[in-house]
Amino acid sequence: MHDPAPLRSFHRNRFQAEPAVFVAPGRVNLIGEHTDYAEGFVMPVAIDFATLAGISPRTDGKIVIYSENYGKERVFEAAALPAGPSQHWSDYPIGVVSILAAEGLAIPGFSLSLWGDVPLGSGLSSSAALEVATALAVTSLIGVTYPGPVLARLCQRAENEFVGANCGIMDQFISANGEEDHALLLDCRDLSFKLAPIPANVALVIANTMVKHSVAGSGYTSRRAEVEEGCAVIASHRPEVRFLRDATVDDLARWGSEMSPNALKRSRHVITENLRTVAAAKALITHNLTELGRLMAEAHASYSQDFEASCVEADAMVALAQDLPGLIGARLTGGGFGGCTINLVEREHAIEFAEALAARYADQTGIVPQIHICHASGGAHRIE
Ligand code: GLA
Repeated sequence: MHDPAPLRSFHRNRFQAEPAVFVAPGRVNLIGEHTDYAEGFVMPVAIDFATLAGISPRTDGKIVIYSENYGKERVFEAAALPAGPSQHWSDYPIGVVSILAAEGLAIPGFSLSLWGDVPLGSGLSSSAALEVATALAVTSLIGVTYPGPVLARLCQRAENEFVGANCGIMDQFISANGEEDHALLLDCRDLSFKLAPIPANVALVIANTMVKHSVAGSGYTSRRAEVEEGCAVIASHRPEVRFLRDATVDDLARWGSEMSPNALKRSRHVITENLRTVAAAKALITHNLTELGRLMAEAHASYSQDFEASCVEADAMVALAQDLPGLIGARLTGGGFGGCTINLVEREHAIEFAEALAARYADQTGIVPQIHICHASGGAHRIE
């Protein structure tokens, strides 16, 4: 999908060296939102949007990272990596390098060129793509190979411990381990997964509300705190409950009144979302698309009303899709508070669907959305 030629050529011009090139995709989540850090289930798909990373060794002990998207480069000393973030795009790649160093890898000097087309701030995991592409490039230069799930954990740590965004494992995991034409039902407790094939007649129509989303934002962090608060109340009665993954709707009925109203609603979302996600994977695997669509609708309602992580624009985008020909299911995807909706649409209707949805959304909100018809792509790898 991604032609490495332009990246090779600007890397060669800038660094006078031939790079090894790697690609890592963004993702869209079909269902299972804010369940990953509760050790629950998610069902993401890797998409065609991706980050490319080109790497070549240097002999001067420097790490030079160039971003074609920003048209800027940053220089670090391999022997004196920064201890923390500087609120800069380079925090993601240098954060990964710093976690690899903390793992005990000897970090050499290198030149790294980055270029990506995952729309930024759209909830399609541009940061995970950047991290995973960097991690693959740097580990391959060092001559170390990590299994995909391990690589994903290291990248998540870069985001948690270096960048300072408290995300779960979903985005890095699917970027590293995606399978072409499949969604992954991922168990975020032990990182085992089941592949759920996306039927050939189903298109992934991703509709960008153009409202910016950020995992570093206060909404994500406060929701996560409320989920943990709800879990602590249940755990005070049932100590074996370590995460909301272990809790049931019955627990909520018994002890929900001891929670703050927000913790109760957030916990109800997470507990029911786990059930929906497992059911949705079953529906996808058994080709029960009507059931899948119903679960997505329920998931959106829960995300919007109980989790309160939607926004007027995303609710509008979902509502406006409902009676368009070909729709199977629609919901807001990703960390929330903006970003994109995912629409599963019968392929033969996908183009008309996208056009009609864009027109309706522009009409209602005055915002011109970007709509992409994507396919489920493979996970991160080297491009020869
Ligand atoms: C962001 C985070 C993920 C996950 C989702 C919500 O994408 O990076 O870990 O928590 O939000 O499902």
